[in-house]
Amino acid sequence: MDEGRGLVVCRGPAKLLSRMMVKRKGGGLLQHHLRVIGLMGLVGLFAVAGVDGGYPLVGGAAKLGLSSNPFRHREHAVRRMESLKASLTAVPSPSPSPPISSRSRVYHVTDYGADPTGKTDSSEAIGKAISDAFRDPSDRVLMAGVADLGGAEIHLGGGSYLISSPVTLPATGGGNLKIHSGSLRASDDFPTDRYLIELWASRSSGSDSTNGDSNGYKYEYITLSGLMLDSNFRGGGTAIENSLRTTIDDCYIVHFMSDGILVQSGHETYIRNSFIGQHITAGNDPGEKDFSGTGINLMGNDNAVTDVVIFSAAIGILVSGQANTLTGVHCYNKATGWGGTGIYLKSPGLTQTRIINCYLDYTSIVSEDPVQLHVSGSFFLGDANVVLKSVKGVINGVDIVDNIFSGGGNGVDIVQLDESNGKFGDVDQVIVQHNVVKGMTLRSTVAKASMDGNAKVWTVDFSPVLLLPDRIQHVQYTLLADSMFPNHALRNTSGNQVVIETEVAVAASVHVAVDQCVTSIG
Ligand SMILES: *[C@@H]1O[C@H](CO)[C@@H](O)[C@H](O)[C@H]1NC(C)=O
Repeated sequence: MDEGRGLVVCRGPAKLLSRMMVKRKGGGLLQHHLRVIGLMGLVGLFAVAGVDGGYPLVGGAAKLGLSSNPFRHREHAVRRMESLKASLTAVPSPSPSPPISSRSRVYHVTDYGADPTGKTDSSEAIGKAISDAFRDPSDRVLMAGVADLGGAEIHLGGGSYLISSPVTLPATGGGNLKIHSGSLRASDDFPTDRYLIELWASRSSGSDSTNGDSNGYKYEYITLSGLMLDSNFRGGGTAIENSLRTTIDDCYIVHFMSDGILVQSGHETYIRNSFIGQHITAGNDPGEKDFSGTGINLMGNDNAVTDVVIFSAAIGILVSGQANTLTGVHCYNKATGWGGTGIYLKSPGLTQTRIINCYLDYTSIVSEDPVQLHVSGSFFLGDANVVLKSVKGVINGVDIVDNIFSGGGNGVDIVQLDESNGKFGDVDQVIVQHNVVKGMTLRSTVAKASMDGNAKVWTVDFSPVLLLPDRIQHVQYTLLADSMFPNHALRNTSGNQVVIETEVAVAASVHVAVDQCVTSIG
């Protein structure tokens, strides 16, 4: 856990530095100071006014007097506030701000000739609306090099538009923009290697490969909302590349062949309240075995997927970055039985993923060499499970707790080690416990058992339940005998079998608790 914090701290200074730079750029430090003084002045004034009117602020009589004429002295105070305000604003400003344009920053694509009936190609019209939105940004910037578009909107006005080329944003960059409220559908000649909406500066027209910014972020705080994206089985839904703080909200993304959503590099793309599927189906689809593509492909860090349904695709969510969070995700994209995967964590050696409150519906979680993985509060239905897959044999800091597993009585382990590429050799801090199971095989890293008998050697076999082969790090046992005081000792824990021996044969019961994960104090 400490390593994780270490990583964040490492990246912290860079983020902090850029935030400070933005603040400085705003140049607001002096102004801010003035405002604070002004406010303090006003507060002082209120207190004076209260006494001025002859009504002390505390006491029953004063309250009566105040309610008999509630407005008079308040008006007085307001007048004095206004004169003070006027005197404050009268202070000459060192650099007068330019006049603010009164033009609306809502760009209706139909004003640019887009066809909301979806019969004719609207790619060019939508492109023009976007160019206009980027043409006159406010005089502010977000991150260095990202112009603040002031909250401009590309409004699709509830139309359904046919497009033959991707909707892209100018390579010059920008942020604080929303594209919303309508549908986009790929034409039959839409390029198969592209996405309907691309926040991808290097793919945009007019991009030059030599960009001056050290971080290269081109887009920040772009919101895609209330959109249906229909890829028409050509290409993908939307691609977000090297962008900051992107929101994808309330979207319905279908008929993609590559990815519904691709996130590559950048930071903090938040995908929420959306429905994603290659085929429009509500389950038990006759074509399920042929589902392909990936619902969400996260190839970056610090993203969040929240309250999202993936209803068809070969892989629901593919994660190859770090520090991503998946919450409230329901995957019924393609059953494991058909070769599908609900959530595939392809970040071996440094996983750093939290999966919380998700619903894996006949489709599993697979994690390659998991290092720092948390799965909790999730529901696994139809023999869906968690598969830990060895690549270089590393498994470290895995926490799979407090989940519900439900299966069809086929003997499927709730957590399974896939060692087809080699055994897990580098194992530490694996915690699998507190899961409830019906119709599947419980696997755990802790277990307890009791046995009765009249014997000299007591062997308690934990191998049917312990997840990790031949690994017991801690044993506690009690020997309960009612008639004598036999000497006894723990002899062996190899093969996940606990062997206890008594000096002589004795009628007794033994109670044993084992743990495969012990935090060393030495
Ligand atoms: C523990 O049991 C294993 C398997 O039976 C055996 O190979 C090993 O020698 C035993 N170890 C000891 C210390 O008795």
